[in-house]
Amino acid sequence: MCNPFFPYVGRFCACLRKPGTLFLFIVMKNISKTAKFLLLFVKNPFIMVANSGIGGGKRMGELFAVVSGKGGTGKTSVCAGLAAALAEEGKRVACIDCDVGLRNLDIALGLSEGGALSFLDVSQGGYTLEDAPRHPDYPTLAFLTAPMNCPVEEINPEAFGQLLTQARKAFDYVFLDAPAGVDAGFRLVSRNTDRFLLVTGAGPAAVRDAARVGDLLELSGKKNVRLIVNRVDKKMLGAVSLTVDDVMDTAGLPLAGIIPEDPKVTLAASFGHSLLRYAPRCPAAKACRRIANRLQGFHVPVTLR
Ligand SMILES: Nc1ncnc2c1ncn2[C@@H]1O[C@H](COP(=O)(O)OP(=O)(O)OP(=O)(O)O)[C@@H](O)[C@H]1O
Ligand SMILES: [Mg+2]
Repeated sequence: MCNPFFPYVGRFCACLRKPGTLFLFIVMKNISKTAKFLLLFVKNPFIMVANSGIGGGKRMGELFAVVSGKGGTGKTSVCAGLAAALAEEGKRVACIDCDVGLRNLDIALGLSEGGALSFLDVSQGGYTLEDAPRHPDYPTLAFLTAPMNCPVEEINPEAFGQLLTQARKAFDYVFLDAPAGVDAGFRLVSRNTDRFLLVTGAGPAAVRDAARVGDLLELSGKKNVRLIVNRVDKKMLGAVSLTVDDVMDTAGLPLAGIIPEDPKVTLAASFGHSLLRYAPRCPAAKACRRIANRLQGFHVPVTLR
């Protein structure tokens, strides 16, 4: 029996033999790949347009918890980078170190020399948010450190929640630098937050841990979780034939951005400066600015440069 599609198949093959048509075919194929990539973002919009939450008639700021499964993935560095990127643009930003007993966000922000106030000092009523020290380079960036001598289990979660509500009223963006893992510190942070930036490396162990944290958050009804893949080495990804898409698929989470491996991150902290001041044009600083722009709702393509 004659195949009704045969003439079309024949014509298509004939077309491919002509170099010009072949070129067109390749271009079309790549366009469809790009469209697929864009669709991914449409399906999982990471654009977190400034929310319309109202608090007593006042527009509420955005609150993000920066979390991870594995320790040392770069939460503190990312938190400091995003806060500085937004403050650079004049946004009012509060950065709160929630790594009780192991604080170090002051170092990543280049604030280790200044006096610090802990979030407990404010949530217990001894001080107000107005008293929070401001960054000397970024006057709109306020910082609260984590208490050192109080077990996290003894921190009153309601009072902490009220502090966050006040912070959202006073600032455009509030970042919580969470401890690694899913213990008491993570629970304190996550019960008071709806938006999460989950920082992971591109290695399989880090991605598996990130997926687990993503699942836990989903189980507790937290749906707004975005992935930041940090310390990405383009060559390494190529060598193991892994793509950032694979990382997203494995973790089952949409992407807020990727940050390359960059020695300037550690150097800036070692010299007591914030990354964006120490090396404003380095690849990691640029990546932080791109993510900060996405958090503001701008479309910025994903790139490693
Ligand atoms: N993109 C990067 N390139 C190079 N080094 C980085 C990058 N991001 C973070 N680092 C380095 O990795 C180390 C751990 O980073 P960081 O303290 O931010 O991680 P963390 O997730 O907050 O750790 P913890 O779980 O202990 O709180 C630091 O020495 C930091 O300078
Ligand atoms: Mg940390």
